[in-house]
Amino acid sequence: GMNNSLYNQKTLLMRPEEQKLLDETHFPVAGLLPMMPLLKNESKRAQQFVGRLVAKKQTLELVKGMPTEFWLYNGILGGPQIVLYEEDEVSILFVNELDQPTTVHFHGLPIPPSQDGNPHDAVLSGKARTYTFKLPKGSAGTYWYHTHAHGLSAEQAFRGLAGTCIVKSRNDPLAALPEQHWVFSDLRLDAHAQIPENTQMDWINGREGEFVLMNGAYKPQIELKETTRIRVWNMCNARYLRLHIPDCDIIVVGTDGGLLEQPQAPVSELLVVPAERYEIILKPRKQGRLVLQNLPYDRKKMMTTFDTKTSELASIHLAMPEFNLPKTLRSLPRFATPTAEHIVNFSEEHNVALEQMFKVNGQTFDMNRIDLIGQVHATEDWLITNASHMDHPFHLHGTQFEVIEFMEFGESSQPPYRALKDTVNVKPLQSVRVRCKQDFKGLRMFHCHILEHEALGMMGQIDIR
Ligand code: C2O
Ligand code: CU
Ligand code: CU
Repeated sequence: GMNNSLYNQKTLLMRPEEQKLLDETHFPVAGLLPMMPLLKNESKRAQQFVGRLVAKKQTLELVKGMPTEFWLYNGILGGPQIVLYEEDEVSILFVNELDQPTTVHFHGLPIPPSQDGNPHDAVLSGKARTYTFKLPKGSAGTYWYHTHAHGLSAEQAFRGLAGTCIVKSRNDPLAALPEQHWVFSDLRLDAHAQIPENTQMDWINGREGEFVLMNGAYKPQIELKETTRIRVWNMCNARYLRLHIPDCDIIVVGTDGGLLEQPQAPVSELLVVPAERYEIILKPRKQGRLVLQNLPYDRKKMMTTFDTKTSELASIHLAMPEFNLPKTLRSLPRFATPTAEHIVNFSEEHNVALEQMFKVNGQTFDMNRIDLIGQVHATEDWLITNASHMDHPFHLHGTQFEVIEFMEFGESSQPPYRALKDTVNVKPLQSVRVRCKQDFKGLRMFHCHILEHEALGMMGQIDIR
């Protein structure tokens, strides 16, 4: 049936060693971290956002003298940033100028399924549609949007179809702080500076482009002259980021679904898995020139391909006077006692076709099958278990959940703080319990957010009734 686009990709047979890749000597020395351009609000009315997104091919010259063809929203690598306010009425006209179907999924936003870019609602090549929704109170947070085209999402995303979205509150305890955005994506370029298709290993492990970009730039320079609220996005298909800045700690103040109750104790590193977002404040132990690093993370446990190198993501120039953060940021609502428990089991099968490898509850995705049934407005638990040999980030559409507990080797542990999230990493042999409520009826996807796995069918759907 619907998987043809994927089955037809001859590249499933290509081997990594057949690819000649560019190395970093081809990149010009980067300048300052660019700011993400904003999506223009064409409405003059208060509490209304009207914008226009066009998906199209666009050539950019990242490497000197060798233009690269991307597939982008409005021609912007990293996408135009959509800045919204709680209670806004949003209307986004989307035009698909690609030569294949696509959708725009608003990752993490509590909006009706019909407006959320489900794979069922493809916008065909040359067609347009409008996504409309109203943002509820309490939805302030750090979100993103990306393609969710059936079987094609992974490729469309590594060619560039993703962008950031921020929902602001008019009552924001950190409103006085300047903001900086760290939008991480990664990129692979062949010897002609073109983006090559996935290899078989990319489909299995998830594709990690060799060049990690920040706001579309390679190894930029970051300036920090005062205490700054930094929003972090991992928009990579599969790359886990373990951010570390020697001589500087990280204070987490927010997650996917907005601010925490209190700023957290400083930590020396922050794991940001694909699709996760954080709000952080840096707490330096010295001023001057620092380096933002990505520490190695072994997400393919028991495999031999573990990359043990620490890499440099950016240089930071820091001259920040002391600043006292507010002691409390907000209070998070408590969920009611759950009335249902949904079981999700991630597993992996070998010696089968790629499209059969990554399973949810023993099956791969079928658009015509309802996997779970949920109840609108009811508090429900999800118990996600990973029976495979690699980490998989679990993501549920349409709502924010609270992680209740992790279970590993018979031991249970709680997360270090309460937070609203829509994506949580699940390690091999680990189970994670999350709790949430869906406020709209209809179909919601849940899946592994390694986009290769999602495109191969490591996804299910729950019908909220
Ligand atoms: Cu980031 Cu199904 O989505
Ligand atoms: Cu999503
Ligand atoms: Cu996965």
